[in-house]
Parts: sequence; structure tokens; C-alpha cells
Amino acid sequence: MVTLFPALFAALTEYGISGRAVRNGLLELRFWDPRDFTSDSYRTVDDRPFGGGPGMVMLAEPLDLALTAAKTALRRDGIAQPRLVYLSPQGRTLNQALVEELVQEPALVLLAGRYEGIDERVFARHPVEEVSIGDYVLSGGELPAMVLLDALIRQLPGALGHAGSAAEDSFADGLLDCPHYTRPEVYLGLGTPAELLTGNHAGVARWRLKQSLGRTWQRRPDLLDRRSLSREELDLLDE
Ligand code: ADE
Repeated sequence: MVTLFPALFAALTEYGISGRAVRNGLLELRFWDPRDFTSDSYRTVDDRPFGGGPGMVMLAEPLDLALTAAKTALRRDGIAQPRLVYLSPQGRTLNQALVEELVQEPALVLLAGRYEGIDERVFARHPVEEVSIGDYVLSGGELPAMVLLDALIRQLPGALGHAGSAAEDSFADGLLDCPHYTRPEVYLGLGTPAELLTGNHAGVARWRLKQSLGRTWQRRPDLLDRRSLSREELDLLDE
């Protein structure tokens, strides 16, 4: 992880499922802070853009050196060509397919930017894949990097506490999630769908699939356009 704000990642490494995965050694997160690769007494990492305009641009040298240090460390671990992902609104939009592709990698170098951008010459020396988490602009790449990391960590074998797996996550099958209920069975007069109370596993699975299909159809029909439907799914949609 190349970032000016490694401390922000405590949100990921100290809490919840991702925190437990880090503590259990399912993944290792290492940080390279461009500020540690500066040579002036102010530890400058940005400057005004050539051509004028608002905001600041991240200096090439500290970032270049930080990225080189990250790659050198990975090379020592036997990873010669790590994929380098730069979180940026200009990138390919993150989706579950990309998460499932990236989790296959033995290591990733994630680059989080700050300010208005990065001196373009960094990318000449370190070719990156740009990944966006959606069509809106954040103040830096750290939150997007944490979004990506969280999605990746869920896919690691053993990361989820329950007996199930990320294969049961919404989107893993290209559909939206079904509704969920827990005790009490009746809350302020609002009941629980009878199908969930029968103890019939096949019936419960059918009800959940039907709900998922219905929600996807209503809220995100674009997801169904990209996915073929099985006979069972088509029958459930007709019911
Ligand atoms: N940096 C700032 N905004 C971003 C976004 N939407 N996705 C990824 N990186 C970003």
C-alpha cells in the first residue's frame, strides 16, 4: 500500500472481518509512505501544477521511490511482476468480477493518491491499472483502497466466520441479496415470511432465490441482462 496516510487503514486492519483476517495472517498489509522518501527538511510531497489552476499535484520523486521500494520488497518475496493498482475516478469501475480476478494475485501494490493528482511521469516509470469505486470524487484514494481491500478479504478462504462463504454473498451469483429476518418472529405486529419458519431447507432456498430474482428484476434489471437465467430461475420469476 503506497499512501500518505497509512494510519487511516486502522479502520480496516483493526475492526470486523478484515481485522480478524489480518490478525490471523490471511493477508499481510505493508505500507510505503512517499513522505519517507523525501529529501528536503519539510518532507514535501506536493507542489503547484505547471500551467496553473487550483489544487496541488503529488511530486514524482517521492512516489517513484516509494513505488520502487514496494516493488523491491515484493521481488525479495519472489513476486517479480506485481499488479499495480492506482485508485482513481478515471479507472475501470470496480465490480465483483474484478474483485474475483484480483484476489487470484499473489500480491498487489495499491496506490492511493491525494490532492488533484499525480505527476504523470510517475506512470511512465510505473505502469498502473486504474480502478474507480464509482462515478463520484473522493479526497483521496485511501477509502477506495479500503473498499477494494475489504471486498478482496471477504474472498480469502477462512476470512468469513460462519460456515458459509463469500460464494453466498449478494452479487456472487450476479443477483441482489434477499431480505433477512431474525428473532422475534413477530416485531410490533410485523411477521416473518412463513417460508422461513418451516425448517424446509429446499423451500427456504427457493423463497430466497425468488426474492433475489424479484429484487434484481425491480431494482437492477441491468444485472439480469448480463446473466443468463436457469430453468428454475425462469419458473420462479413466472410464479
Ligand atoms: N479517488 C478519488 N475518487 C475516487 C473514486 N471514485 N474511485 C477511486 N479512487 C478515487
